[in-house]
Amino acid sequence: MKNTTSYIEKNKDRFLSELVELLKIPSISADSAYKADVLRTAEAVKERLEQAGCDTVEICPTAGYPIVYGEKIINNDLPTVLVYGHYDVQPADPLELWDSAPFEPVIKTTELHPEGAIFARGACDDKGQMYMHVKALEFMTSTDQLPCNVKFMIEGEEEVGSVNLSTFVKENREKLSNDVILISDTGMIAKDTPSITTGLRGLSYVEVEVTGPNRDLHSGLYGGAVANPINVLTKMIASLHDENNHITIPGFYDKVEELSQDERAEMAKAPFSLDDYKKALDIDDVYGEAGYTTNERNSIRPTLDVNGIWGGYIGEGAKTVIASKAYAKISMRLVPGQEWEEITELFKNHFESIAPKAVKVKVKPHHGGQGYVTPTDNIGYQAAAKAYTDTFGKAPIPQRGGGSIPIVALFEKELDSKIILMGFGLDSDAIHSPNEHFGVFNYLKGIETIPLFYKYFTELSK
Ligand code: BES
Ligand code: MN
Ligand code: MN
Repeated sequence: MKNTTSYIEKNKDRFLSELVELLKIPSISADSAYKADVLRTAEAVKERLEQAGCDTVEICPTAGYPIVYGEKIINNDLPTVLVYGHYDVQPADPLELWDSAPFEPVIKTTELHPEGAIFARGACDDKGQMYMHVKALEFMTSTDQLPCNVKFMIEGEEEVGSVNLSTFVKENREKLSNDVILISDTGMIAKDTPSITTGLRGLSYVEVEVTGPNRDLHSGLYGGAVANPINVLTKMIASLHDENNHITIPGFYDKVEELSQDERAEMAKAPFSLDDYKKALDIDDVYGEAGYTTNERNSIRPTLDVNGIWGGYIGEGAKTVIASKAYAKISMRLVPGQEWEEITELFKNHFESIAPKAVKVKVKPHHGGQGYVTPTDNIGYQAAAKAYTDTFGKAPIPQRGGGSIPIVALFEKELDSKIILMGFGLDSDAIHSPNEHFGVFNYLKGIETIPLFYKYFTELSK
């Protein structure tokens, strides 16, 4: 690749301002109030792909939000890279915890990012990382250096489980055929330490409803005599972990693939400071399953967490009331081996079985997906490793991630492809949190590294 850094240097202000424009659109897929904005974002992505040199770009309708599909096929004898990303973002609340408005992007410096970071919802997850690929394509087409074919598939429902994308993939196998799938929707170990994500956790997400009496009751008149759904729900939830923080649902661990001592020792070599970890989160200690390290707990082990819990009176002052209903949203992060539908079923049966007769329980499954692990002995991984080595001056570290991109396992199954997770985000980017941001350094490094992946992948395919 020639002139990558000079091209980036010359165009970086525009690269940033284009991303800023994209970040201004609140494409929150979870909240139907933003429907027009989500659709507008798909249009914007289409335009950007056209400008970057795709020959055809279409907005493919689904039962939910559309998929933007673009391609540039230069020669059928050359390999094809399929880029996946998402243009939808998480809700921005709680708004009062943002230092600047989530959809009015600002670029400011931080201790870690003296070159500046872009603050906005979606800056890292995933508009910023997705747009690196668009700008990398622009660089390759405008300098006549695109070495292979490229397809883009950018969806608008990742943050709500990619339910309609799976149908699209199953119905469009031919159109989506590829030699490798390239995704930037994960992170790296540190700003100066690249890594390639070699695993993702699966997910089962459920909502539970506990109903006690048929109406909210006076907590003095009835207190002590009828089941309080909030008391009961919290007790049931607490019982889902034992004193070692193992999950108590029968059968939950049956199919978990355990790592060998060698594999665990290999994992432990990745640079990690528990002190820095605690400091970054303002916690005095970590917490989790006995017998596992922090990095194991958040990647190779399954979890169960309450994501939200509500019921009763939460307004100003005090109201003496026993609520009729209590609710919780619960996520279970799964590891390879665990089938998400089976785990959802195990949860449902167990949760219903532990409820006292004094309440009624409903378990509503939301969405889920399989976990994923990828081997490193393939040319996709090697191409990514070479690309990172060129731009960071050191080889990337393979690392299993704790997050989920449920569609990845489906890509492997339906399209028979290897997936390369080439992430440029940092844990400190605060994705899904207030003040999400993406380092200008990371953004530009991504644009610099991606074309090298294309180059090496094409060379290694010969
Ligand atoms: N990009 C994230 C997943 C991620 C982030 C993986 C960092 C590894 C490192 C993705 O957008 C995401 O948030 N996924 C959801 C799952 C989805 C079904 C809502 C998640 O992991 O909670
Ligand atoms: Mn994402
Ligand atoms: Mn996300």
